[in-house]
Amino acid sequence: MVLNGGMTNPSQLVSFNDGNTIPQLGFGTWKLSGDECYNAVRTAISVGYRHIDTAKIYGNEEPVGRAVADAIAAGEVDREDLFITTKLWNDGHDHAPEEFEASLDRLGLDYVDAYLIHWPFPAAGKYVKAWDDLIRIQGVGRVRSIGVANFYEETLDDLEKATGVIPVMNQVELHPGFSQASLRAYHDEKDIVTEAWSPLGRGDSLTEQTIVQIAEEAGATPAQVVIAWHVALGNVVIPKSGNAKRIEENFVALDVALTDAQIDAITALDADGGRSYNDPRQWPELES
Ligand code: A2P
Repeated sequence: MVLNGGMTNPSQLVSFNDGNTIPQLGFGTWKLSGDECYNAVRTAISVGYRHIDTAKIYGNEEPVGRAVADAIAAGEVDREDLFITTKLWNDGHDHAPEEFEASLDRLGLDYVDAYLIHWPFPAAGKYVKAWDDLIRIQGVGRVRSIGVANFYEETLDDLEKATGVIPVMNQVELHPGFSQASLRAYHDEKDIVTEAWSPLGRGDSLTEQTIVQIAEEAGATPAQVVIAWHVALGNVVIPKSGNAKRIEENFVALDVALTDAQIDAITALDADGGRSYNDPRQWPELES
């Protein structure tokens, strides 16, 4: 296990364009709620995760915050060693400062490490206003870094053109079968970190024949192979699990090294229709 006095190995930090860093392997919490979420986050911190990803829409900022507070009180971790992300939901683009304060209250935190616009929602056309507000919020000092999720090239360009401030990261759907090569190349050009959501394809990637075979070759589990592939591509990756053994299994993926041929074989699984969820160019539609 990659543990170093309770900290993840510093080599596993990824640098942002604002000078801050993020642990490359984080813990995703979508679909976790209540006590299950609380217990999962406690387990994640105890096995060594130092990066927790939540959002207003997940409805679990409160149990995430409670787990963080209790882990700190138990002396398992210091707040400065944790990286906590939350996100602005689509109905808050025109009042981001209030939404941000409400998220901090639910989390019970003085600051978060990253605040992201969750979707560009182009039909509403308010994401530039929201970005302008995130820049102001950052100026007040209660969020270290600001970024986005589910943005695509044109919407990223709009933010840069309007404000001159480029998001530190873009959290997007990315998994075997949907490796987002062109968006990753664009992020590299702009110095935006790529963060993968649904990194295990919601579990579907784990029965894919190529991945099962590479797992046998590497002496690892399919989930560890997929996480190691994300790490090799340079993605920040946030697998979700509600199961203590799998939470630990996924963290230990930091020790799995793949060959270039194995990495290329997984990337080559891209297929038409690889996207499993909403296309941010079209979703959500405006309610009539
Ligand atoms: P569970 O919570 O029961 O462990 P993603 O991160 O792509 O959204 O995938 C999450 C899904 O993958 C969940 O259904 C989760 O189930 C499952 N999962 C997470 N880690 C593992 C693992 N190591 N082995 C098998 N399934 C896993």
